[in-house]
Amino acid sequence: MTLTVVGHGYVGLVSACVFADFGNEVYVIGRNKEKINRLKNGDPIIFEPGLKELLEKNLKAGRLHFTLDYQEAIPKSEIVFITVGTPPKNNGEADLSSVFEVAKNIAKNLSSHFTVVSCKSTVPVGTNKKVEEIIKKYAPKKAQFAVASCPEFLREGSAIADTLNADRIVIGSSSKKAIEILLKLHQPFSSKKIVTDLASAELIKYAANAILATKISFSNLIAFYCEKTGADVEKVLDAVGLDKRIGRIFMNPGVGYGGSCLPKDVLALIDTGKKLNIDTSLLKAVDKVNYQAKENFLQKILKNKQGKNTAILGLSFKPNTDDIRFAPSIFIIENLLKHGFKIKVFDPEAMGNIRKIFGEKIEYAKNPYEAAKNADQLIILTEWNEFKQIDLKKLKKILKKPVIFDGRNIYDPLLLKNLGFKYFSVGR
Ligand code: UGA
Repeated sequence: MTLTVVGHGYVGLVSACVFADFGNEVYVIGRNKEKINRLKNGDPIIFEPGLKELLEKNLKAGRLHFTLDYQEAIPKSEIVFITVGTPPKNNGEADLSSVFEVAKNIAKNLSSHFTVVSCKSTVPVGTNKKVEEIIKKYAPKKAQFAVASCPEFLREGSAIADTLNADRIVIGSSSKKAIEILLKLHQPFSSKKIVTDLASAELIKYAANAILATKISFSNLIAFYCEKTGADVEKVLDAVGLDKRIGRIFMNPGVGYGGSCLPKDVLALIDTGKKLNIDTSLLKAVDKVNYQAKENFLQKILKNKQGKNTAILGLSFKPNTDDIRFAPSIFIIENLLKHGFKIKVFDPEAMGNIRKIFGEKIEYAKNPYEAAKNADQLIILTEWNEFKQIDLKKLKKILKKPVIFDGRNIYDPLLLKNLGFKYFSVGR
């Protein structure tokens, strides 16, 4: 099949590479010449495990084409996926301007050959109806098309595996022909396919991210109880999670959820609820607890600090990505700087992105040990594998004071105590 993906972020580029890998002819449309040239040369721009290899392989096979030109791609395509960003506005509402702009550009290039325009971007319920209206308005008279919603459930850091082994593939449309074409494209995937209407497909995505955020905030709330009572949150959640109705997955307390999805999608769902006159207290509490998780961790550092020289390990919002959007590290660094801390950071992938925000206000180390050298305390904000089995004895020698604040509970408190560390984690 021939398809187009508009946008080349985590969702767009990963989807494009995976579809191309199944033998499809895939066009990827961007709007920045420099980035399109980098992609053409096999540079994925973002860091995502396995993506560079998949990109290079499919470029070499001639199945992936990057372009700025809608005319080159749309008329040939059976399916066009919209995968552009929907960042939050100040009031929490999703900014849909890129989606609508892209819909207009697609519309102008549609032809008499039937095309499915399918949104993969996370968009509030009702958005695809608007996309349909825009396309109707701008498409030439002869244009044959239908609109569909195909939300994406991949996680950064494991995006390729998540796409290949999705728990479900959701296809929402009122057009039988569009559904048939999308089912054909997804035929090689063994995942369960849910075929539904547009609104349900749109809402499935928000409901999924909202329940994930709820599980995390709930775990953080229980961690607050544990800190006040001496209970051990990991033991509590291990036992609670053994109940199959609850499960342990996505119940890891810590310094809060970040990223470009959970924080913004909870806020956008609150905004949609407001417009629909629905009481969104539950979602507001999820967002509030996420803030409290960061604040609680910050206060722990401020109350127990041993001095101002601080090492921070882990800056990305989660491991295996260089993405720092809404990362707890930004909140912690900003606030420590306000309190006059001197900070030296290390992250395997996200240093470049953090430098864009903090510049020379903080220092950058080449490895965890260099960051820790002579520091009064070490703070862990992302659970990269390479921090989990770090040489703790060496670390103890290098640090000025053997103090660790662990925002992701990666170490055994007893082991750290026996090694002579003062160890602060979350809910233990
Ligand atoms: C999330 C969803 O998990 C994906 O299913 C969805 O497709 C994606 O958003 C999206 O909407 O595009 P992502 O944001 O990439 O994926 O990463 P997650 O693995 O969900 O992690 C989000 C944040 O939650 C991270 O900061 C992580 O550290 C935190 N988290 C996760 C916890 O604090 N505790 C947990 O138990 C799990």
